[in-house]
Amino acid sequence: MSSIVLVYATRQGQTRKIAEHLAEALAPLGLDCQAVDVCGVEEPFPLAAYEGAILAASIHMGKHEPEMVDFVRRHREELEAMPTAFLSVSMSEASAEDPTRSFEERERARAEVEQMLEAFYAATDWRPGRALPVAGALLYTKMGFILRFVTKRIARRDGGPTDTTHDYEFTDWAALDHFAEELVTRIARLRDSRKRGAGPQLPR
Ligand SMILES: Cc1cc2nc3c(=O)[nH]c(=O)nc-3n(C[C@H](O)[C@H](O)[C@H](O)COP(=O)(O)O)c2cc1C
Repeated sequence: MSSIVLVYATRQGQTRKIAEHLAEALAPLGLDCQAVDVCGVEEPFPLAAYEGAILAASIHMGKHEPEMVDFVRRHREELEAMPTAFLSVSMSEASAEDPTRSFEERERARAEVEQMLEAFYAATDWRPGRALPVAGALLYTKMGFILRFVTKRIARRDGGPTDTTHDYEFTDWAALDHFAEELVTRIARLRDSRKRGAGPQLPR
């Protein structure tokens, strides 16, 4: 079984849940995927020992987690030499996928996701082989008073749910399963193309 690593950065835990779901979906497809919290990474981290890397980070206040920016900056050279994918977890992506919103609203949300991805690439000077925006969650019941208050205000401004007695999960688990299948196919293709002497990135 080949082995890849999934390094994730999370604040409220949704990105961890996404990372663990993906690792579980990949195992029966023959890809051993180890999910690692970026905050628990000890350097020197043996990134190059893996066949590929998936990075996943949530967005807060318009930015991907700073711990992920630091991780990529520390490991940029190794990442550039291996197949990579990046999962960007946000509420903007939830809005972009929300069929109850108008076309204009969804396009605006999609553009926000794109901008935040571009800012991440600029901050890290790195581009993944494949980027997948993923809808996150609003876990009000797990937030402290101040965070719940701030989040509710943001949600009201953005047309999100504001009843703080409930949690709201927007992650499309079936889309992640599809991504897992796509990834396995791409890695298999990459192995073939490597045998023929092609470059390291996951074919798009
Ligand atoms: C205080 C706060 C600020 C947030 N800011 C943004 C933001 O600027 N843009 C966005 O799209 N989502 C934003 N979100 C939504 C998070 O990206 C979403 O809740 C995600 O699921 C969090 O993932 P995590 O639990 O892995 O940290 C914010 C959430 C919170 C709680």
